[in-house]
Amino acid sequence: MIWVFDAYGTLFDVDGAARQAAQDDPSLADVWADLSADWRRKQLEYSWMRAITGDHADFWQVTAEALDWAAERHGATADQSARLLELYRRLPAYPEVPQTLDRLRADGAQTAIFSNGSPRMLAEAAASAGLENRLDALLSVETAGRFKPSAESYRIVTEHFGCKPDDITFVSSNGWDIYGAARFGFSTVWANRAGLPVDRLPCRPGRILSDLGGL
Ligand code: LAC
Repeated sequence: MIWVFDAYGTLFDVDGAARQAAQDDPSLADVWADLSADWRRKQLEYSWMRAITGDHADFWQVTAEALDWAAERHGATADQSARLLELYRRLPAYPEVPQTLDRLRADGAQTAIFSNGSPRMLAEAAASAGLENRLDALLSVETAGRFKPSAESYRIVTEHFGCKPDDITFVSSNGWDIYGAARFGFSTVWANRAGLPVDRLPCRPGRILSDLGGL
């Protein structure tokens, strides 16, 4: 069994950077949640635009540009933005993630990340969250030079493991990512952490869970 996980929002808490910054700097207390939501929304929007047009840049650049937009909208200073970006390198894992990966591997499964994140982002995040010895591979779209949900990006996974698409169970908190993975042929589990409706897209999730504890 090969379990492959999206990184940001699935294994790592994307709100962790702004939440920590607001704990360190009370002047962000009233805006950190909205700033974080806008930062994530723009990060994804920019990745989709670049996937469609082929104007690829790595996810660290896209993440920094998305923060630049969100910081301007919410009045964050240059120093606060620098702190937010630094914290993004070291996002916390969601609480159930370590023991879930341990349990899957104890059952003989292989585990991996497949993410828009650059190789350096994924290495730093996995090490910071204590996951680097719980994952057999950290796979980045940078190998294909195009973001998810492009088909050529998911192909990185089957080429790495030398397997067919339906040998992979892909777990993501992003409905659009589940769609891309399902249309590529992966079995899918949607970690619906936010309790959202199912996206109206051509492929539905194979399973829906509220977090990874149910895997
Ligand atoms: C990733 C983002 C899209 O990790 O969640 O690929």
